[in-house]
Amino acid sequence: MDTAAKEAKALEREWFYPFPLPSGKTTPTYDGGRLNAVHDTRLKMMDSALLPLLGERLDGKSVVDLACHQGYFALSMATRGAQRVLGVDARAEHIADATLMAELAGHAQFEGMVSDIHALDTDALGTFDVVLMLGLIYHLENPVGAIRTAHALTRGVCLVETQVVPHLSGNVDWGNYRFVKPLKGCFGIIDETEETHGPEMSTQGICLAPSTEALLWIMEKVGFSRVELLTPPPDAYEQHRYGKRVMVAGYP
Ligand SMILES: C[S@@+](CC[C@H](N)C(=O)[O-])C[C@H]1O[C@@H](n2cnc3c(N)ncnc32)[C@H](O)[C@@H]1O
Repeated sequence: MDTAAKEAKALEREWFYPFPLPSGKTTPTYDGGRLNAVHDTRLKMMDSALLPLLGERLDGKSVVDLACHQGYFALSMATRGAQRVLGVDARAEHIADATLMAELAGHAQFEGMVSDIHALDTDALGTFDVVLMLGLIYHLENPVGAIRTAHALTRGVCLVETQVVPHLSGNVDWGNYRFVKPLKGCFGIIDETEETHGPEMSTQGICLAPSTEALLWIMEKVGFSRVELLTPPPDAYEQHRYGKRVMVAGYP
């Protein structure tokens, strides 16, 4: 299929992201574009950590996007010249879409991999200058394991973005009243068991969404030497603006 035919096929349906196409058109997105703001905010928040560390151009740099979906964020890194761009997702149809978008954009350096986050062999993959893990951990029953995986892959910076739940604080009698432990954060249990067919949803259905405090604490405990809660831009998507979604940068 030539480029024009591939583009025509892409334009026949709605996408999760507004991909620029070779003709100058953009892929139509879900719900008349209502979700574009969440992607735009996340690009800006990514930049608030990436630009000071790496600058605008990513020539020679490597990027892995964990749960890359159709590859929007991975391909935005390829556009800036990243040399190795790996997109991983549990859903084969997403990797097929990401591969199509990479072909249309001429990003031969994009490599797609179908894998559950928990099945990745981090030793075999090596480390990356940029690790993206956006919109994933609140769909998982083992978010701590996923954060450990992201840490193992990080050479430069890891950006974790997630929905968060309200924090709980206080002390717990840990066996008896003389041994008291303070809560470091909490997880909310979210039921996606009836929605695992959804393209953006959990693959297993039992989801643990962290509080912001939990995420920061866990990222430090798995080994990030510095962890920074990123500030949303003034025009941020409402969830980021009101602290219901956060992005955290972790540095090895
Ligand atoms: C809400 S979407 C987020 C996609 C993208 N990272 C973003 O932020 O726009 C969740 C993605 O996680 C993927 N996913 C869900 N469970 C996964 C798992 N256990 N391992 C890898 N990917 C998973 C889904 O297929 C989907 O692409």
